[in-house]
Amino acid sequence: METQWFPLKLLITGASGLFGSKLAEIATSKGYDVYSGYSKDKPTYGVPTHFDITEKIKVEKVFSKVIPEVVVHAATLTDVDKCEVNKDLAWKINVEGTKNIVEAAKKNNAFLVYVSTDYVFNGEKGNYKETDPPEPLNYYGLTKLKSEELVENTLEEHCVVRASVIYGAQPAAGKINFALWLINKLENKESPKVLVDQWNSPTLNTNMANMTLEIIERKLTGIYHISGATRISRYEFAKELAQTFHLETELLVPTNMTQFSWPAKRPKDSSLDITKAQQTLKNKPLQAQEALEQLKKELNN
Ligand SMILES: NC(=O)c1ccc[n+]([C@@H]2O[C@H](COP(=O)([O-])OP(=O)(O)OC[C@H]3O[C@@H](n4cnc5c(N)ncnc54)[C@H](OP(=O)(O)O)[C@@H]3O)[C@@H](O)[C@H]2O)c1
Repeated sequence: METQWFPLKLLITGASGLFGSKLAEIATSKGYDVYSGYSKDKPTYGVPTHFDITEKIKVEKVFSKVIPEVVVHAATLTDVDKCEVNKDLAWKINVEGTKNIVEAAKKNNAFLVYVSTDYVFNGEKGNYKETDPPEPLNYYGLTKLKSEELVENTLEEHCVVRASVIYGAQPAAGKINFALWLINKLENKESPKVLVDQWNSPTLNTNMANMTLEIIERKLTGIYHISGATRISRYEFAKELAQTFHLETELLVPTNMTQFSWPAKRPKDSSLDITKAQQTLKNKPLQAQEALEQLKKELNN
């Protein structure tokens, strides 16, 4: 029988980030007791809880003070190119930081949700299921996969959720996201270059946060792909975005990956198969068009 527990003492790492900030906002509005972890950018929702996940003693102190029933671990060095050029830093934050969080969760018997990525896959096939073997192309993906393994090998009660190109209505952790960047460029009549040969499953942070909360409330375990429901190229997504916001699609400049020289390799097609989430969850992964309509509503509020 499924567990249903509510309201919960929830500790979020990365609560100032694109996903974590939306999770903290919705969880707070639902009555959760939210502790919002951050290292530099003070979160808006929940009780701001300052700690660096790489500092083991500080992590332990926070856990013994908060005693969370649930931990959503989203704090990560997400800059893919920075991870490639500064591997020591990427390992320290993404893997050693995760080890500290996982060990503290174990000690405190907390249910842990680890937030992972489509970048654990090599992108040769696309439409990846939870059961497909991961094979990261870049160092960021490798650190996320190693962290997934740490979670799986240390904790009995855990869930790994994977998403893909997250976007949302608010800048977070000092950064804008793909959707806001594109809207801004088109509003200023600039001509953004957009890839025609990279496919993924864009994920609205609100949709992802609602699915994560349902996973927590039902204490679902294992791996779940909780991205948006549409496999789409960056260019086609940009076109849908422009159309939704009545902006000029003609300004978009179709570009190939070969025209960029990033330090980190990108998977060509890292789209995720969301059948499991669709069949299991009441909060379904949204189609790109539905999610963009929701983004528009959020921006108008
Ligand atoms: N963004 C995407 O397109 C995408 C796609 C798939 C999966 N994901 C996954 O989704 C999760 C959330 O990503 P996001 O885009 O929301 O992240 P983000 O906006 O880049 O924010 C990163 C968060 O991690 C925190 N953080 C970084 N280093 C830290 C440290 N040493 N100690 C404590 N906190 C630290 C940051 O806090 P401060 O700002 O306070 O330092 C911030 O809250 C990550 O696990 C990522 O791998 C992201």
